Amino acid sequence: MKLKDCDNDMQKMIIQGGNKLSGTITINGAKNSAVALLPAAILSGGKTVITNVPDITDVEVLSEIIKQLNGTITKEKNRVIIDSSQIMNNPISKDLSSKLRASYYFMGALLAKFNYVEIYYPGGCNFGARQIDYHLKGFEALGAKVNMEQEKFIITAKELKGAQIKLPFPSVGATINLMLAATKAHGKTVIYNAAKEPEIKNVADFLNKMGANITGAGSDTIEILGVTELHEAIIEVIPDRIEAGTYIIAGALMGKNLTIKNVNIKHLKAFLNTLEQMEIPFSVGKNEITISEAKEIKPIDIETKVYPGFPTDLAQPICVLLLKAQGISHVKENIYHKRLGHVKYLNKMGANIIIDDFTEKIIGPVELHGTEVEASDLRAGATLFLAALISKEKTIISNVEYILRGYEKIVRKLSSVGANIRIETIK
Ligand code: EPU
Repeated sequence: MKLKDCDNDMQKMIIQGGNKLSGTITINGAKNSAVALLPAAILSGGKTVITNVPDITDVEVLSEIIKQLNGTITKEKNRVIIDSSQIMNNPISKDLSSKLRASYYFMGALLAKFNYVEIYYPGGCNFGARQIDYHLKGFEALGAKVNMEQEKFIITAKELKGAQIKLPFPSVGATINLMLAATKAHGKTVIYNAAKEPEIKNVADFLNKMGANITGAGSDTIEILGVTELHEAIIEVIPDRIEAGTYIIAGALMGKNLTIKNVNIKHLKAFLNTLEQMEIPFSVGKNEITISEAKEIKPIDIETKVYPGFPTDLAQPICVLLLKAQGISHVKENIYHKRLGHVKYLNKMGANIIIDDFTEKIIGPVELHGTEVEASDLRAGATLFLAALISKEKTIISNVEYILRGYEKIVRKLSSVGANIRIETIK
């Protein structure tokens, strides 16, 4: 696999806004599940199959890491087959681990497999300090020693032993990482105040299919009874609720009967409730949503919360809808206080968003104008391509590699429903 999109930061997304969007967009597997399922696969002593894997650059990077660990990985469309029978505890290059956040899942997985892991600090979208202290304290509770040498963590354990761990905050990453580490620990581990995001249950289901003994995933208390061996298994990645939410917003902005398919409605409850509060009409099918441009939008106040609350990952994209609302809205970002990189560029496009602490005051309605903007992180990039879809002029977005980390075939998907969008490589 070539790391084409990550290696090339000279790509620009060019969108000529104003086109109506009609037809169907099919949602892929969830990025935040896939990026944990791939590292989880190395715990198996044999082959595992992961289906509905999104074709995004984060998955490419994780695949490269698995190859560095002597795993064999083959890909047939969205199906990934991983042979972990020859996995070795090889060093993971700094270049790869610093490309994404989810490289930290190799901490839990390698620690469980070898009682030893050496790994560089993870990368990922940049919106303030993203600590991993809960992960490290959890490993220590399981009996590991954590040392930091320059930018590298060295985590060792004579033997991992089950423990009672109470997370200070229901962190998605820490919950998954501790589940991975505890899978083969001696005895019972209980994670209290665990994150409840659907991606966590997807990972627990995979581990259980491999032979792990995990109960309670999806609730705030997860119990893991350590097992000695993990075997072959097959798992399907759940639909990406954030990709779905992003395209549903596109439909509310420019849709003419735009259908978003392969959606788990239950996972989108808080988001869809918010659209209802904004009086945006849409219709719900079994696994799909159909939505058209909303002519009148009611302003509202939103606060991000852990699942099942309104997701932080959709707090930036929904701002574009609030810019069309008839009055003042507020968005309070509780999970990542500095996740506000989209504001500067929306304001450059004609918005009037005022930041007070970690709350955005959004004054609508405004007309947006295309210009040159920069994606500062994945969801800021999504916010900008949504804004570009409703701007009369052309918008040129740089740092496209952020967007390609989370949105599979974005150009193909949006063009197929009528958008005028392309990515150009600037030499
Ligand atoms: N936190 C700590 N210490 C820790 C772990 C977390 O202080 O050891 C804090 C974080 O700084 C943050 C909060 O706890 O303020 C929540 O962080 P969490 O650990 O839940 O986030 P994450 O695991 O790093 C995942 C997703 C993010 C998503 C968040 C919240 C992956 C790879 N990333 O991050 O996804 O925003 O959960 O749902 O699963 C995205 O898709 O755009 C994205 C950034």
